[in-house]
Parts: sequence; C-alpha cells; structure tokens
Amino acid sequence: MPIEEACIPVLDRGFIFGDGVYEVIPVYSYRGFRLPEHLRRLQHSLDGIHLPNPYNDEEWTKLINELIARNTGEDQYLYLHITRGVAKRDHAFPKPPVVPTVFMMSNPLTMPPAELLQSGVGAVTAQDNRWLRCDIKSIALLPNVLLRQMAVDAGCAETILIRDDEFMTEGSASNIFAVKNGTLLAPPKDHFMLPGITYDVVLEIAADHGIPYQIRKVAKEELFNADEILLTSSTKEVLAITRLDGQPVGQGKPGPMFDKLYRLYQDFKRDVMRKSTQAK
Ligand code: PDD
Repeated sequence: MPIEEACIPVLDRGFIFGDGVYEVIPVYSYRGFRLPEHLRRLQHSLDGIHLPNPYNDEEWTKLINELIARNTGEDQYLYLHITRGVAKRDHAFPKPPVVPTVFMMSNPLTMPPAELLQSGVGAVTAQDNRWLRCDIKSIALLPNVLLRQMAVDAGCAETILIRDDEFMTEGSASNIFAVKNGTLLAPPKDHFMLPGITYDVVLEIAADHGIPYQIRKVAKEELFNADEILLTSSTKEVLAITRLDGQPVGQGKPGPMFDKLYRLYQDFKRDVMRKSTQAK
C-alpha cells in the first residue's frame, strides 16, 4: 500500500517501548544483496529480544521479492521492522504472546554522490553511551539519533563512538575501519557493535585480494593516528572519512586503501549482482 496509508495502533510495543528489531537490505538489479546473511542477522536480533521469528527464510524471501517487484527502480533499499505487537502497556512481555507487528518498506537506494566519494566526509568522535547489546539491531535508536545529530551539528556526516575512553566501536549508523601502514584494522564483532553485512564483505574482499587486515580492538589513539579511516554501511557502501574532530585524517583526502576497497567493492557488486541478473 502507499506508505501514507500504512498505520499502526498506538499501543504497538514498538511505538510505546521501542520493543522490536529491524534490518536494512540493499537491492541491486532487483535482487536483495546478501539476503541469507541479512536474514541470519535478523534471526540473531530476534533471538536477542526473545521474539519468535514470524516467518521462516523462505517466507521472508517470498515477501521481500514481492516488495521489490511492487516497487520501481532496480536499486532499492528495504527496511524490515518487527515488533512484539500490540498489547496493554506493561513492560513485561504480553502473556499470552500477541501477534508481532511486521512492517516492510522499500525506498530508492541512492549512493553518496561522486563529490563525496572524491573528497571523503567529516566525522566527530563521542563517548559510546549505548547499551551493551549493540549486536542487536534494535529499533530503539535514541542514543544513535542523538549521537548522529552531534555530527550533523558539527557539519559532519558521522559520529565515531569511543567506549570507555579506550577503544572505538563503530559509527552511529555504520561500521568503522582504521588503516595504518597499509593494514586495515577492524574492531571484532562482539556486543559493542552491530555485525555489519558490508563490514563482512569488505573483510572478504581484503582476504581475497591479499590486503593485510587485523580484526582486533582499535585503541582511541590508533583512530586519531590512522592514515585513513573508512566507514561502511548498506546504504553508504564504503566511504572515506577525511576529517576527524576538525583535523585532517592522514593527507586529508581519500587514501590508497579507500581507492582500492571502493573499486573492489564495486567490482564485487557488479560481478555478484548485475552479472547473475543478466544471466537469468
Ligand atoms: N545501519 N552499525 C550500526 C549502528 C548501524 O546502524 C549500521 C547500519 C551498521 C552497518 O551495517 P550494514 O553494513 O549491515 O548496513 C553498523 C543501517 C544502514 C540503518 O540503520 O539505516
């Protein structure tokens, strides 16, 4: 239905408590990118909030393909949102359980413009004041909203989060990599960050092309002394961060690691997504 006509009851626990989880899935050439991986992460998020999955993977895939087909544009981004459903306001889970609310929408997928790819973007740092289950893709995003706004208020694109004044975790809505002496430094996928699907693709590309990388905690100082900083997400793909807290990162422009990974990411996308569509 047209988005303006979609509505939910006010007692939906997603509205009242932020009691739900979500996924964002990019679609290239009418095909969901890494759909099984997104569905696996959705299952992890649902398990994390003790909410039974309303559909199996086959049913999700069918719904997702229908949503893609009903929308125009070969590249889209899908938003899936599942809440614990509608019930009288009580913090504890409804007993007996109620039917979960499932909401899905498609929007056009617009990538960062060429100027931003060439110049990179600015970021600020802030204390990571979120909870300790950042591996759950929770719809309760108020901390992320406030943290992102700090970047916007400073004329920047992203806020990089520092936990306990010690190590960097991720961005307010992205994963972050640092680069030092030609090595990509990736924080481990633990409860401090969302296990990004784009993050995985970047590390796979690095492994396949002999790009040195280390998966380990990245100290705050390493972030501030990095030669390059990269941001990844489903809607931004790979983007260079060229200013941090008002200071240039490395040379203050996208560096060789960004150039390489950006190109390889585009190649990967074209090979995996576009070619297989043409072959159909
Ligand atoms: N956000 N970390 C956080 C906190 C995120 O919100 C996201 C993505 C990522 C990157 O994950 P992926 O590569 O799977 O997109 C990391 C989406 C795009 C959003 O909330 O709109």
